Amino acid sequence: MKNILVLGGGGYVGCNLVRKLIDQGYNVIVYDLFLYKNDVFSDLKNNNKLKIIKGDIRDLNKLESILENINILIHLACISNDPSYELNPKLGEDINFKSFPKLINISKRHNIDQFIYASSSSVYGIKEEASVTEDLKAEPITDYSKFKLECENILLNHEGKFLKTIIRPATVCGYSERQRLDVIVNILTNHAFFNKKIIIHGGEQLRPNIHIDDMSDSYIHVINNSKISDKEIFNVGDENHSVNKLANMVNEACPDAILKKEEVLDQRSYKISSEKIYNKLGFKTKKTIKNAIDDLVEAFTKKKLVNTFGNDEFYNIKIIKKRLNSLLND
Ligand SMILES: NC(=O)c1ccc[n+]([C@@H]2O[C@H](COP(=O)([O-])OP(=O)(O)OC[C@H]3O[C@@H](n4cnc5c(N)ncnc54)[C@H](O)[C@@H]3O)[C@@H](O)[C@H]2O)c1
Repeated sequence: MKNILVLGGGGYVGCNLVRKLIDQGYNVIVYDLFLYKNDVFSDLKNNNKLKIIKGDIRDLNKLESILENINILIHLACISNDPSYELNPKLGEDINFKSFPKLINISKRHNIDQFIYASSSSVYGIKEEASVTEDLKAEPITDYSKFKLECENILLNHEGKFLKTIIRPATVCGYSERQRLDVIVNILTNHAFFNKKIIIHGGEQLRPNIHIDDMSDSYIHVINNSKISDKEIFNVGDENHSVNKLANMVNEACPDAILKKEEVLDQRSYKISSEKIYNKLGFKTKKTIKNAIDDLVEAFTKKKLVNTFGNDEFYNIKIIKKRLNSLLND
């Protein structure tokens, strides 16, 4: 069976994806700094299909030694939202961008078969078009998104022999062993369940989201269709719901919560079309946003997630702020 290296495999999406890869029989190496939570694979301690290595993607020597015998590399590791990135743009650039061409070069030297890069649907910026497809010009607004696009271009233009695919995910939602509560559906559900309040600003704006299980399945789909995915960029999202619709879905799952609307001047919508990955690879989502909300409510009810406002590990920006100095000195 193939060996897969997941950079950032200890993160929100990685924790879900790694479990699915192991279930499919792959040998998985997770390489991650485990910035947010350490013990995310404690249930898999004795599973010989999983190897965990704590390390920094900027540490090329360490990565060189790991890439031996790797067939597939999935790159999820980064400072993964705008506010955390903006805490220290130099750090963001070092991790999210400067390490990237070096990583491509060593992947080439080690003859991997396939490289899959997690970009972001935020690379489009704000588009007026009803259907935001991959052939539209990307016009990123923030540095986080600009460097995602730069990395896409480096990967696509590199002459490495490996197959290369770029995923542009919508915002992910639902439960994970490394929980994020700083993404829209998860934020709304956390506030509705514990504070009994859902506050929405505006409401008509569209927001593309995707259930975390579907997100992971899309990576597996690309692995299973590696040749036709080569040199392709795929948007991956569910329906583009309005914030009102998302809030109403959360309210249905948390009926005690009071929904309050506040005015907002910025009514910009973000939306993506995920037709291409369906048409080309036959990938379609199996779960819904409602499923993701229900999964979170279950995790809250069963106390799998506690102290959801006080524990910093649920919020990327809080942890990056705390660890800024050590990350800058590494
Ligand atoms: N979650 C979303 O809604 C979403 C949306 C669009 C794109 N993405 C992209 O998908 C990927 C995964 O997102 P996520 O939500 O799981 O993010 P996450 O922040 O939970 O996970 C990122 C992981 O990378 C690790 N990491 C960060 N810097 C590192 C370094 N220098 N060396 C080694 N490891 C490092 C962190 O410890 C963390 O475990 C990211 O590339 C993100 O930009 C996510």
